[in-house]
Amino acid sequence: MANPPYQLSLQTSEPTRLAQIPTSSLTPPVTPIAKESRQRSFQDIQPPQSLSAPKPNVSTPLYFTNDLEIIHNGDNRPIEFGRGAWSIVYKARSTSSAKPSASTSTSNPSTPPSSPSSPVSTTRILAVKAPVRRDARPVLEAEALTLTRLTLTAGHEPYIVPFHGQHKDLGGLVMSAIPLALSTYIEDQADIARSRQPATPTMFDPVQGPASYTDLARKLISGLNWLHQAAGMVHGDIKPHNILLRPVDANESTSAFPFEPLFADFSSAVEIPNDPAIPLDTTRASMSAFTPPFTAPEMLASLTSGDIAPTPASDVFSLAATLLAAATGDLLLYPGTSNMQRLAMARQGHQIVDLTRSGSSGHRVPRNGFVEGLVKPAVVKDPASRISTVDWVDLAASSSSSS
Ligand SMILES: Nc1ncnc2c1ncn2[C@@H]1O[C@H](COP(=O)(O)OP(=O)(O)OP(=O)(O)O)[C@@H](O)[C@H]1O
Ligand SMILES: [Mg+2]
Repeated sequence: MANPPYQLSLQTSEPTRLAQIPTSSLTPPVTPIAKESRQRSFQDIQPPQSLSAPKPNVSTPLYFTNDLEIIHNGDNRPIEFGRGAWSIVYKARSTSSAKPSASTSTSNPSTPPSSPSSPVSTTRILAVKAPVRRDARPVLEAEALTLTRLTLTAGHEPYIVPFHGQHKDLGGLVMSAIPLALSTYIEDQADIARSRQPATPTMFDPVQGPASYTDLARKLISGLNWLHQAAGMVHGDIKPHNILLRPVDANESTSAFPFEPLFADFSSAVEIPNDPAIPLDTTRASMSAFTPPFTAPEMLASLTSGDIAPTPASDVFSLAATLLAAATGDLLLYPGTSNMQRLAMARQGHQIVDLTRSGSSGHRVPRNGFVEGLVKPAVVKDPASRISTVDWVDLAASSSSSS
């Protein structure tokens, strides 16, 4: 079917998705099992390279050539980290002495060599994103190329899920296992906030607390700035479910937010052309599923035409919506509304701050408070007038939760 009707389905752990394909349910990520850390505070982050810096020219993906075994549970079923519209992400292990790729060198072996005299052999816990249907294969092929390009771009480590290559036989994408999504973290923090007594002193704060929230926001905005400015890439599907949290080493860090938030799921990503006269590629977005309220209103407006390309400005909007969800603790942003009402509200996305404030957790985004100050310039209606990531980094650096 060239242009099937959009499907709306309600999922418990993921907001309603407006998809051009049916979506499957999402398995909530499990508690972190692997600790992979290279702590980088916001202040340490290098200034972005300019977009004119040469981009790695990638025509074939990195391949994962080490052995790989999908891990099964007691019922002999493969263990899943999560699911999305295109894929199931399985838990896997690789026991190998082959030389690690550039990106694997940062990962922690989970077991030491078996004996000092035996060849160096390490077992790593990995995540394998496998196509869920035949038509998902080209999507994963394209994502493998995107992840290869990002992995070959200097400075990617603090921002991008570690990618070890595409498995030739399975077609799956092999990544480090980072089994905590920002969506799960937000829900956990909301639960903790609900049980906090007395609730009144902190009711105007983001659920995770102001210092931790500010640190998270700065790291996320720096990551998006790196993606746009250094890697020349638009993510296209930023939302809490597509951001994974890698714990930072408590001994090495004084981070208020003790994780590195890593962008994952590049299935909708598009390159930013070096020449601004060249339009962005619309083919990948037109194959994608969209998640109101994280999708920019101009993207939703152009959905019916099929001529949709995510842009740096639509990424900025999506990250701002993510920051609002993190502040309120509410992944749906507009609780108590129906799917159709939420879609209608998402189409009015430039009003997202006011709409959020009218919701049951709206007190966590006080008028003229620091959350509003951070989010408002990122959700203005005209995409061309939205704050750029370069300016957003500065705003986040100067924004203080105590003001
Ligand atoms: N490296 C990883 N380690 C652990 N869990 C992961 C990893 N990558 C993805 N996941 C989990 O699997 C889920 C699905 O992965 P992903 O979002 O990449 O798939 P998708 O099919 O492209 O999703 P979407 O429906 O958002 O397009 C994620 O939301 C996350 O919970
Ligand atoms: Mg996803």
